[in-house]
Amino acid sequence: HREDSRKELYYQINREAATYYLKSFCQKANPGLTYMLKRGIQPVTLKKFGIGYADGEWDSLYRYFMSKNVDVKVLKELGLISESKGRFYDKFRNRVMFPIINTRGKVIGFGGRAIDDSMPKYLNSPESPVFMKKNNLYGLNLSRQDISKENCAILVEGYMDVISLYQSGIRNVGASLGTALTENQAKVLRRYTKNIVLSYDSDSAGQAAALRGIDILFKEDCRPRVLHVSDGKDPDEFVKKHGRDAFKKLVDNSLNFVDYKISVLRRKYNLDSYEESIDFLKEAAVIFRNLSPIEADVYIKKLANEIKISENAIRLEINGNNTQEEFVTH
Ligand code: CTP
Ligand code: MN
Ligand code: MN
Ligand code: MN
Ligand code: MN
Repeated sequence: HREDSRKELYYQINREAATYYLKSFCQKANPGLTYMLKRGIQPVTLKKFGIGYADGEWDSLYRYFMSKNVDVKVLKELGLISESKGRFYDKFRNRVMFPIINTRGKVIGFGGRAIDDSMPKYLNSPESPVFMKKNNLYGLNLSRQDISKENCAILVEGYMDVISLYQSGIRNVGASLGTALTENQAKVLRRYTKNIVLSYDSDSAGQAAALRGIDILFKEDCRPRVLHVSDGKDPDEFVKKHGRDAFKKLVDNSLNFVDYKISVLRRKYNLDSYEESIDFLKEAAVIFRNLSPIEADVYIKKLANEIKISENAIRLEINGNNTQEEFVTH
C-alpha cells in the first residue's frame, strides 16, 4: 500500500512535468513547436500525444518544482533533474518532449528529442520505480483499442513513426521505445492481438531488430510479418511522402516471417555458386526446423522448387541426418 502511494506521487510529478513542458510548447514562436510543425505534425496531433518543450534554461523546471516544495530526491529518481558539483539542473533542455504514457493513462517517463545538433539525438528517462522500459510500448495508450478492433498491430522503432502513422490515419501502432523488442513487450502486445507487422527502419540496424523481433514474437506463439519501407528510411518518412494508402499497400505486401528470413539469407549468399547454395540451404533448414511439420512442408516445397533441389534432401537436412558420418565409418 505504501509502495502504491509512492508510485502515485511519482506519476503525479511526471504529469506535472508534462504539463509544464506543454505550457512552454504552447508559447508563441516556441522552437519546439516550430520544429514539430516543420516536420509536418499538425497541432491536433501534437495535442493528442501531449507533446511539449523543455526550454533551454539550466534550471527552470528545477525552480518550478522547488516553488512547489517537491522533494529533489524524487525529481532525481525520475530523471527530470540532475546534480553536479552540488548544483541542480534540468536534465532535458531545448528538447521536444514526448511523454510516455502507460495504458492506465499514467505518465511514466519522457523521451526528449534535440532540435539542433545536440547529442544524443534522443534522451530518455532512466528506469525508475514507475518506468520500466522493457514492459512498455510508446503509443499503446492511444492505439490499443484500434489494435484489438483491427486484430493487428504495427510495430515501429520510434516516437515519430508512431505519431506520423497515427496522424495519417493508421492507428494500430506502437513503438518498442528504441530498444529491440523485449519478451515482456511481446507479451503485452499479445494481449491485444496475435497479428504483428514489424515495421522497422530500412537500415541494417532495423533489419537486425526485425530478425530478433521475429524470434521473440515466435516464442509468444505469433507468426509476425515484416514490412519493408521501400522509400525513405523509416515509416515516418514514407507515410509523409506517400500517404496512408501507400503505407497500407506496404502492409499488404509484407512478408511472413519465414519468407523474410529466407530473403535475408538469400542476400547473404551467391546462389550461382554450388558451394554457397549448399550453405544457404543448410541455413534455411535451420529456419524450418522450428516450424510445425505442416508449416515446414509448405516452405520446403516452395524452396525446393525455387532452388531445384529435392524436397527430401531438405527434409533430411532439417532432421539432422548426418550422412557424412556414415560415409566415414563404413
Ligand atoms: N532512440 C533513443 N536514443 C537515441 C536514438 C534513438 O532512444 N540516441 C530511440 C528513440 O525512441 C527513437 C528510436 O530509437 O525514436 C528510433 O531511432 P531513430 O530511427 O534513430 O530515430 P527516429 O525515431 O527516426 O527519429 P527522428 O525521425 O526524429 O530522427
Ligand atoms: Mn529548463
Ligand atoms: Mn533507426
Ligand atoms: Mn525518423
Ligand atoms: Mn528512424
